[in-house]
Amino acid sequence: MLGLAALTLATAPAFGAMESEDCAGCHSDRDSMDGKLFIDQERFAGTEHGGMGCTSCHGDISDQHPDDGLVPGKASCGDCHDQVAAEYARSNHGSSAACNDCHNPHEARGASQVSGYDMNKQCANCHETEDMTEVHAKWLPQAGVHIQNLPCVTCHSASENYVITLYVNRRAGGDAYGEFAPASHEELQQLSGEQDVAKMIDTNGNSFITLDELKAFNRDPRYKTMRLAGMMTPEVVTHDFTTLDNRWDCTFCHASGPAAMQTSYLSLPQQDGSQDRYGVEKGAVLHALYGTPDFYMMGATRSKALNIAGIMIIAGGMVMPIGHGTLRFLTRKNRRDH
Ligand code: HEC
Ligand code: HEC
Ligand code: HEC
Ligand code: HEC
Ligand code: HEC
Ligand code: HEC
Ligand code: HEC
Repeated sequence: MLGLAALTLATAPAFGAMESEDCAGCHSDRDSMDGKLFIDQERFAGTEHGGMGCTSCHGDISDQHPDDGLVPGKASCGDCHDQVAAEYARSNHGSSAACNDCHNPHEARGASQVSGYDMNKQCANCHETEDMTEVHAKWLPQAGVHIQNLPCVTCHSASENYVITLYVNRRAGGDAYGEFAPASHEELQQLSGEQDVAKMIDTNGNSFITLDELKAFNRDPRYKTMRLAGMMTPEVVTHDFTTLDNRWDCTFCHASGPAAMQTSYLSLPQQDGSQDRYGVEKGAVLHALYGTPDFYMMGATRSKALNIAGIMIIAGGMVMPIGHGTLRFLTRKNRRDH
């Protein structure tokens, strides 16, 4: 039956129906299409959905559109993603948000092509960062630091494991003392003078980042307004939005040790809004000075004594302002040694 229907569709003369190629003529024109009616063709084209074309989700659009008085249909995500839809429907979150509340169907990408910061923007649409910091601070010291350095889904999805993903941050507005924020593709092009932004770090162009390449980047005066920031991102993203018990447990991250921090990637923003990932030499992120100077994982350093001190502080439950200073004090030797 299905085959026959498809055949009929394919061979039927295209009377009065618009093709996907026709849509961009209007919907990709920023000047005449306001707000949500504007679809960024460049961002759409690079996605899996882009390959399917507009009409696979908006069928039966007549030649008279938009003057035909009809509202175009919209496919539902579950028509094609039945497994994700079923998993999500079973979750606690299933009735709290629809697929489109977190995903833009015209810019939908896989988890490895979306930065941890952008994942958190999906959540921030409903869960204000300030409120979240307050809620988590009831049991999580430095809740602000955690929420800044972890995608929510590292704790709120059923992924058993995480990887370290490095992003390039830059000082806002070129100000020498400004806050660091994720650098955009255009900013990286400007700062590096390279068309291909990966060249900035992957100097030999082999799509793999060694500790030596990280070192060279961190030392290069041209790049002093930039720095590498590490995030612990989930190995896979699931849609059951459960909170595994061990995410309460500080040692899940802080004492998982160097072994768990071996898998890491460098993630760079591309022109079309996606992220490209490059494998990083095993262990390189843990090099205190030349790997990612700004990513100190308490309890995960190479020094056993420091790990134990870190875990004791965590286990003892610290008084925050003092605790933070103590930690910096305890790790100072480690930093100087490197
Ligand atoms: C001649 C210009 C033009 C072309 C070509 C065109 N559209 Fe539209 N489309 C519009 C305008 C204008 C609106 C807003 C209509 C309104 O708000 O009443 C619209 C509205 C829509 C909507 C939103 C309807 C809603 O309110 O929910 C969808 C979906 C849509 N178009 C899809 C398409 C697709 C898919 C194609 C190609 C097959 C396409 N359009 C081609 C001009 C165009
Ligand atoms: C994977 C399915 C899918 C594809 C492919 C797709 N759309 Fe959509 N589109 C949707 C869904 C679902 C909505 C409703 C979004 C919502 O309600 O937030 C939508 C909404 C729209 C809207 C209305 C604006 C809005 O957000 O309500 C326009 C206009 C539109 N699409 C045009 C297009 C055009 C043009 C293309 C091709 C360039 C396209 N769509 C490709 C699924 C798709
Ligand atoms: C007409 C079928 C169809 C519909 C409807 C559809 N998708 Fe997809 N989608 C695909 C296909 C095919 C892929 C690429 C293969 C895959 O990942 O399953 C894809 C990929 C994706 C990806 C990226 C996965 C990756 O690995 O690159 C996301 C995210 C996504 N879809 C979300 C949605 C959301 C949200 C909706 C509803 C607005 C939706 N899709 C509706 C067919 C569809
Ligand atoms: C509460 C937010 C949220 C909702 C609701 C949600 N997703 Fe996702 N989804 C995410 C996040 C976060 C990711 C990982 C980042 C990304 O790919 O955008 C993701 C990833 C995906 C992927 C790619 C998975 C991969 O392994 O690369 C698909 C496909 C997808 N979602 C489909 C859906 C569909 C279909 C629905 C509705 C049934 C849905 N999502 C509802 C947050 C959500
Ligand atoms: C469209 C709005 C919306 C978006 C987007 C959204 N949420 Fe929610 N979320 C809710 C609502 C509503 C609730 C239930 C009331 C509450 O606890 O605030 C909820 C509850 C939760 C809970 C508590 C669930 C429980 O079992 O008690 C968690 C955890 C959560 N969301 C995580 C996330 C994460 C992670 C993201 C991003 C990937 C996200 N949410 C995106 C609306 C949203
Ligand atoms: C370090 C791990 C971790 C991170 C990061 C994290 N959460 Fe949570 N969150 C938890 C745990 C554990 C709970 C308690 C879950 C429970 O009550 O079962 C929780 C509770 C929640 C709740 C329910 C709060 C309530 O009122 O009871 C929401 C909503 C929530 N988180 C959303 C988020 C969002 C959004 C983010 C990202 C901005 C985030 N979380 C980041 C671990 C985390
Ligand atoms: C899901 C992983 C995860 C969990 C669970 C977790 N943390 Fe963290 N923690 C991090 C990350 C990532 C950072 C930021 C590291 C960096 O970038 O410097 C951090 C930073 C900290 C800092 C600040 C260190 C500094 O140098 O500023 C303290 C203190 C801390 N965590 C204590 C705890 C405690 C106590 C718990 C348990 C209640 C806990 N963490 C649970 C991942 C985690």
